[in-house]
Amino acid sequence: VYSTELYRTGFHFQPQKNWMNDPNGMIKYMGYYHLFYQYNPDGPKWGNINWGHAVSKDLVHWHHINQSALAPGPDWYDIYGVWSGSSTLLPDGTPAILYTGWSNISTSTQAQTQNLAVPLNASDPLLRDWVKSPSNPIMNPGKGFNTQNFRDPTEGWIGADGQWRVLIGGTMLKGKGGTAHLYKSRNFVNWTYVQDLHSVNYTGMWECPDFYPVAMEGRDGLDVSTNTVKVKHVLKASTRNHDYYTVGTYDSVLDTFVADDPELEVGFGMRYDYGKFYASKSFFDKSTSRRILFGWVSESDSDADAITKGWSGLQSLPRQVWLDPDTGMDLVQAPVEEVDGLHRDQVFKFNFTLPAGSVMAIEGVHGPQLDIQLEFNKPDMPMNLLFNGTDATSLVGQEVCANGTSHNGLYGPFGVLVLAEKDLLEQTGVFFYLTLAYDGTWKAIVCSDESRSSMQTDVDKASYGTYVRVLESDQYLTLRTLVDHSIVETFAQGGRAVITSRVYPTMALNNDAYFFLFNNGTQDIKVQSLNAWRMEAAPPDEMEPKV
Ligand code: FRU
Repeated sequence: VYSTELYRTGFHFQPQKNWMNDPNGMIKYMGYYHLFYQYNPDGPKWGNINWGHAVSKDLVHWHHINQSALAPGPDWYDIYGVWSGSSTLLPDGTPAILYTGWSNISTSTQAQTQNLAVPLNASDPLLRDWVKSPSNPIMNPGKGFNTQNFRDPTEGWIGADGQWRVLIGGTMLKGKGGTAHLYKSRNFVNWTYVQDLHSVNYTGMWECPDFYPVAMEGRDGLDVSTNTVKVKHVLKASTRNHDYYTVGTYDSVLDTFVADDPELEVGFGMRYDYGKFYASKSFFDKSTSRRILFGWVSESDSDADAITKGWSGLQSLPRQVWLDPDTGMDLVQAPVEEVDGLHRDQVFKFNFTLPAGSVMAIEGVHGPQLDIQLEFNKPDMPMNLLFNGTDATSLVGQEVCANGTSHNGLYGPFGVLVLAEKDLLEQTGVFFYLTLAYDGTWKAIVCSDESRSSMQTDVDKASYGTYVRVLESDQYLTLRTLVDHSIVETFAQGGRAVITSRVYPTMALNNDAYFFLFNNGTQDIKVQSLNAWRMEAAPPDEMEPKV
């Protein structure tokens, strides 16, 4: 008999109990990272949504603030819930929160409302208490808006005319798809609808839009108001269960955004993550010049399991995000380097062969909290691994990734089995597969296969996958997989493609969780290096941080 408490993570952010969904309003303020999140204080299912709140000095060790930053009511405009939103640092250095209220007016023009809150005491580094503005609600829906689909304000930025701008997620006025409504303000309190910054037909409503500049060179992040010739802009929307982004150009005079490649529009092209990851939000950490992203990783077990566990939902590891300078159009993601501070007991092996048809046990580290980093030599054959990393999940996921560890090809599948029971009765496979496409070129697919992850039958065991871009100049095929009890996050090819899985083993738990390398292809694969560490836990800090 296994204990569901073993699914609680060791180094991911989660509240002590109850339901959590979207990350909200992250900000660095007076030396503390603040993470707010959609939270139900009453239990492990969605409802009565508050803004939960935690602070950290390093994005890894968190202290839970023992009160909500925002709670519903008592006024009509958010009486049923304080929904997602963002923080903005105002010019005087104080933060402000914009959030969506679920009002008690369901049919009229004000079903979902946009609201403002400011700190009661801006000299409190922990920002415990927030005051809702007497001007709430501060944005009115434009003519013809669907007021049930009008939510999730972005961080504010300043455009060419010096005025504030934010985006609100919604549905297109004409057409069937998602949109980002643009609002402007001179004082952050009085807002008017101007136009839609961007919309895409047939995507579904856009939840939690995010819009930010990225540098064309280097990894440094940028303040949201930066707009020079040396930047591109990223527009992200959460729709149809996934976080889709596109890279393009923003005109801060006309307030228009044009995707660089119309085939990679929001909702059809690239995703932050090809597994479980939704309603993400980024923020700029000026103190380290990084843009950092959190996303909500929901459960794949049943409602009954949520009740047994008493909790539901995780935040992804915080990820640094930047534009791939080699392609100019893909984002690259990596866990923030603070995560490396949890490394313990390293295992290192280099320059060895993973023979065709082999499974190789790795001694030295095991357990439910691991960081595994692998470099494979690119097979020596004429091939063009260039491919736009589009959303190929349906195609690839079914044909190659599902039960992919037993599907044989020439090159692959090869990779790693994590949260594996000694006799492999349970295993989660993370692997590459190289496939010859109709046009005669080879393409790389990366998979995260949950199909044999658990003996349980009432959990979802999806097989996720995507094409991943491999450049001529890339020397290796790389995988980095972080394992934390019930979550497996994989950064492939240096972070050009990311896949997050949730798994619920019944045997590969705690000390009985191992990992193996494997190669089910018919060709040997050369491993350039394997680095693996046990990850130390980062339990919440009980002590209130000393200010
Ligand atoms: C996304 C979302 C948001 C909304 C919030 C409510 O997961 O549906 O659009 O503001 O969750 O909790």
